[in-house]
Amino acid sequence: MRPRQGHRLLLAICRREGDYATSHTVPTNSVLTDLAYQACVSATCGARYGVDEVRVACDACGGLLDVAYDWNRVKPPDSLAWFEGKWPRRSEPLPFSGVWRFHELLPFAPPDRVVTLGEGQTLLHDSPRVAEFIGLKGGAAHLQYEGMNPSGSFKDNGMTAAFTHAHTIGARRAACASTGNTSASLALYCGVSKLMQAIIFIGSGKISYGKLSQALDYGALTIQIAGDFDDAMHRVRQVSSQQGIYLVNSVNPFRLEGQKTIMYRVLEGLRWQVPDWIVVPGGNLGNSSAFGKAFHELHELGLIDRLPRLAVINAAGADTLFQLYEKRGLRWNAGSPDAAIINNYYAEMDDANRRASTIASAIEINRPVNLTKCLRALEWMNGVVREVTDEQMLDAKAQVGANGLGCEPASAASVAGTKLLREEGVIAPGERVVCILTGHQLKDPTATVAYHTADQAEFNRVLGSRGVNRAAFANRAIQVENDLDEIVRAIQLNS
Ligand code: F0G
Repeated sequence: MRPRQGHRLLLAICRREGDYATSHTVPTNSVLTDLAYQACVSATCGARYGVDEVRVACDACGGLLDVAYDWNRVKPPDSLAWFEGKWPRRSEPLPFSGVWRFHELLPFAPPDRVVTLGEGQTLLHDSPRVAEFIGLKGGAAHLQYEGMNPSGSFKDNGMTAAFTHAHTIGARRAACASTGNTSASLALYCGVSKLMQAIIFIGSGKISYGKLSQALDYGALTIQIAGDFDDAMHRVRQVSSQQGIYLVNSVNPFRLEGQKTIMYRVLEGLRWQVPDWIVVPGGNLGNSSAFGKAFHELHELGLIDRLPRLAVINAAGADTLFQLYEKRGLRWNAGSPDAAIINNYYAEMDDANRRASTIASAIEINRPVNLTKCLRALEWMNGVVREVTDEQMLDAKAQVGANGLGCEPASAASVAGTKLLREEGVIAPGERVVCILTGHQLKDPTATVAYHTADQAEFNRVLGSRGVNRAAFANRAIQVENDLDEIVRAIQLNS
């Protein structure tokens, strides 16, 4: 994780001070662009709202909202290579940010209102050894390492966008429910900018210490709820709407605008060539939704000639999307997914008292809030959904780590899922695959140490209890007495 001194903070002048507008509408001195609007994703609804309104759902039908643009008037660049013209301007805050150097593709806020910490300085890595582990030809596996963001996860891509919107409309408090990374990111933006107070809702005992320590250190008001992520999500929605607090979870459509840029950087890393597959872990399904929108828009704008395929990977212990999409045939269905399939599934979950459970705490989610948008992305990108066990995830994580890019357990779902899809023959050996590594290795040291431990009791406590039987790539520490000869012997035996 990057030291705080490295952040570049661009703060636009906040022209409106005072309390958050409970009406959730900006007063007349709004500086928001009129080229963007919010649109309901439901085919039968299609309601529209201004970008100066704070909404996380459509008033008319309760559906999710998109940020949409009048592209005839905003006139995006005529080629993606046009963005290369910004590379020499890295001393300026917007071109420096890996999100805002693509401002022309998310033009919902004026440049002078953007709040950026220099997020998105992340790279696409070519990893021949991970390719070999997966069963791909050398050069075919690329890892988009989002762990290098200021708060150590991809969330900063979305947070800078939501935070910019919140700042633009004059919000003074921002809240989220989180499995840890969203809260760390929100806490960071609030801590550095001092523009808002962060209020975070977390499930008690449900987030890893790496993430909890960030939120506490950055000074967030931390509400630990006796429940899991879904309980926290339910409560934060109630509280934020009742108290007029700006909600930054991925139901906020501005968040997802920022997350589109992960795909722009992938294309940039491939010199604007479209890969064959994008593989991403699935939790609340914000990323997969944002990726679908990113590619769909680029295609509509004539900036790419085809869309990659999408694979969303659930943890087997938190596999709502897999069950609904692959087992029960739930589809986008031209904007009207079959609500009965979803409701029946959730009712069965509740009746059986079944709750998500996985070592990948980041994606330990029962009811993904962006489900319908994700179905749309799967439709646009001819997608598939798979589930991987905790053991498969941890083995993949160890391989990613052994090749120099440590990631947290949930992130490795993308690599484990790609391996599975290779074994099934869905992905061919020579296809160009991009796996998204969503979070840094230091986010969850407990899982990593338990995987590599020589202490069987610790292994059983952390991992055995979750059905992990063995750690195929464990790198065990060697225990020796505090004795020079023994230390030297241990090194000779093992090197
Ligand atoms: N990977 C990591 C490291 C995450 O933190 C998350 C989500 C995901 C994958 C799933 O992404 O929700 O876009 O499908 N973390 C959220 C949080 C839920 O609260 O930090 P998604």
